[in-house]
Amino acid sequence: MVCYVMAKMASSMVESGEDVFRKIFKIYKRRNPPPDFSDVIDFSKGVPSDKIVAAKLDPAAVSDVEAARVGLQPVRDWKVFGLRGYPGFIFISNPFLPGSQPFWVRQCLKTYPQKPNVCNLDMHMSPSDTQDIWDKSVHGNSFTPSGKREPKTLLERLRWVTLGYHYNWDTKTYCANHYTPFPADLHLLSVQITAACGFPGFNAEAGILNYYRSDSSLGIHVDESELDHSRPLLSFSFGQSAIFLLGGIHRQDPPTAMYMHNGDMMVMSGQSRLLYHAVPRIVPAPQGHTALEMEGCSLASSLQDRTVVKLVSEEDWAVCSRYIQSSRVNLTVRQVLGPGQRFPETPSSHQRTNAGWTVGYHDGPADGENGKRRSSCDSGDTVDT
Ligand code: OGA
Ligand code: MN
Repeated sequence: MVCYVMAKMASSMVESGEDVFRKIFKIYKRRNPPPDFSDVIDFSKGVPSDKIVAAKLDPAAVSDVEAARVGLQPVRDWKVFGLRGYPGFIFISNPFLPGSQPFWVRQCLKTYPQKPNVCNLDMHMSPSDTQDIWDKSVHGNSFTPSGKREPKTLLERLRWVTLGYHYNWDTKTYCANHYTPFPADLHLLSVQITAACGFPGFNAEAGILNYYRSDSSLGIHVDESELDHSRPLLSFSFGQSAIFLLGGIHRQDPPTAMYMHNGDMMVMSGQSRLLYHAVPRIVPAPQGHTALEMEGCSLASSLQDRTVVKLVSEEDWAVCSRYIQSSRVNLTVRQVLGPGQRFPETPSSHQRTNAGWTVGYHDGPADGENGKRRSSCDSGDTVDT
């Protein structure tokens, strides 16, 4: 039966020029009529799905104190899952300690967009204009002639930020001479998680933050620009939920749909490191998922001196919580180089094609229904994923 369906889809591709992944992407992206979500895996529900398998961590790799320093629960308490048919894919259902998440959300919205990190607004604004995105958005003059719509704040216009080795969206490469120090707090968080997942010695060298509004999506792509694919890729989700599609090594492989809720994490490693994936749709967080009560912060404050996670002021949290009520932030962390590895002499020499077709990477989430997605300079390239 499955073979019959796939054969049908494959032959319909010949007719329509559309592959199986793209077909399913479009179904989940569709507004009218809305798609059927009943096949979407929800790890937070303890889910009775035959696709879910147990995943084993190494709880001894990270002490409870080390985990708490970065705002994580003891590793033995993490709810960890694997997916049948996707070896190396690990899903961790919100492993954060209550009260620690406001810190990471604040870093994503207030700290990481700051210079010297790079963001989409830099592509068509001067450095002085993109200097204080947070301050300008929070305290900016909100004067508008009456009757006119408020102009969007810089924070509302933020679509992506890069950290460490700054990804070049045009050449689809990282390069040695465009590097700024990777945030130490995020490096430590990444090291703890990867160690628990069986990857000691992870080196967080590049990060990409994607900022999604309720109508944004992220095209089908493979993250293959990193030079060492034996190192895992980490992905964090904050705020509203996403439908995440995980495919195979070919665009004809039908993807598996799953929810990524606030605080959830994914590790793509081993045979699942280079699979096609995409985010066709943002969906409202289930009730209570983004409440992130402030009282939990007292827990972090009792450990203040030794923790990376710091207390977030009520003023900052008011801005963050308003933002994530309607948006989603995705943060991916990558190791670019293997131990002792260097960038090749010519930056273009590691661009690759696969079986004659270019393996697409994405260039940040696209907004709305118009089928456009951003290039590095917001020129609105037509999608094609
Ligand atoms: C990426 C990515 C997925 C997400 O940034 O490479 O695949 O969940 N993000 O937003
Ligand atoms: Mn990706």
